[in-house]
Amino acid sequence: MPKDGSVVRLDGKGQPLWLVLELTYRCPLKCPWCSNPVDYEGCHDKELSTDEWKRVLREGRELGALQLGFTGGEPMLRDDLEELVGEASRLGYYTNLITSGVGLNETRLKALKAAGLNQIQLSLQSSDRELTDTLVGARTFDRKIEVARGIKAHGFPMVLNVPVFRQNADQTAEILALAEDIGVDYLEFANIQYYNWAMLNREELLPSRAQLERAERAVQEARERIGDKMTIYFVIPDYFEERPKACMNGWGSIHLTIAPDGAALPCQEARLIKTLDFPTVREKPLAWLWHESPSFQKFRGDSWMPQPCRSCDEKETDFGGCRCQAFLLTGDAASTDPACAKSPQHHLITDAVARANDPKRTLKPLLMRTERTARELMEVESD
Ligand code: FES
Repeated sequence: MPKDGSVVRLDGKGQPLWLVLELTYRCPLKCPWCSNPVDYEGCHDKELSTDEWKRVLREGRELGALQLGFTGGEPMLRDDLEELVGEASRLGYYTNLITSGVGLNETRLKALKAAGLNQIQLSLQSSDRELTDTLVGARTFDRKIEVARGIKAHGFPMVLNVPVFRQNADQTAEILALAEDIGVDYLEFANIQYYNWAMLNREELLPSRAQLERAERAVQEARERIGDKMTIYFVIPDYFEERPKACMNGWGSIHLTIAPDGAALPCQEARLIKTLDFPTVREKPLAWLWHESPSFQKFRGDSWMPQPCRSCDEKETDFGGCRCQAFLLTGDAASTDPACAKSPQHHLITDAVARANDPKRTLKPLLMRTERTARELMEVESD
């Protein structure tokens, strides 16, 4: 059973508690740790229509989903966002908007409130204007702070999400002070996961263990000082742990993502597993995709697990770790997640951390997310 006490079924007969709609992969920012696929370009013309998203919402509620996330790309780029939020509220979802804040002006904040939006999660990369703007490739810092105050002014519970990497890990105390000043309710320091764009920039983004320890100390001090006025999350990334993360609480167990073109995924990264096929909501009903899709079935239960996972007494705790990470690092989605110290390929993780922190290494510029870069990467792959 997971630590929060919720009951998880690994057989797909349970319900998807979390439904995440990636409304679009389009985004005005160029974050070099973006979790969207690096080959997303062809997806823009295939985005689901308003009516198709509404059908997904209805079918999701019929399946029992309660928590709903609108994300992207940048979901504010969809003109029908307010309409979709309204439909989701009417259906009884708890709705959460995950945004960079770009495009979230006063008019749209009011409209989203009126449509029944429950919560907004805003991303912030740094307490420093220059660094924020450089990291995301656009002038956004002032706008983000303004949006953060607007979110509070409209009475939304506010989650500030800070992706953590080498460039900002030493700003933890300053970010905490800024969040306190804004009146953030939940501050989430999210150590980035190394897939897609972040994987391309892994050596430049991986922090050192010393940085993480300093950041954790700053968080602890803030928790003691602030008390329960602000809830602060900080999780050490799996690259620095001995055991893998319980990714998605188990593959196909409680989480269902729908990509912009309607592909149903057990997690937002699953498309990087090129050996699996993910049919779309245009082809199949959501209930079939959740219960029957061979790709969802693939890693449910424990019969797929290799040794040492299958006989490991921690398999009910971490569910075998992350299938996407296993594929990305070993080429086989069914192998033991190399983040686990029991994996025969654990050196793939420890070597990467050592390489990133080698003082003799020549620093490279970050590879920013752009459509041109995505195109070039695909051309290299197909050569
Ligand atoms: Fe896909 Fe972990 S991110 S299973």
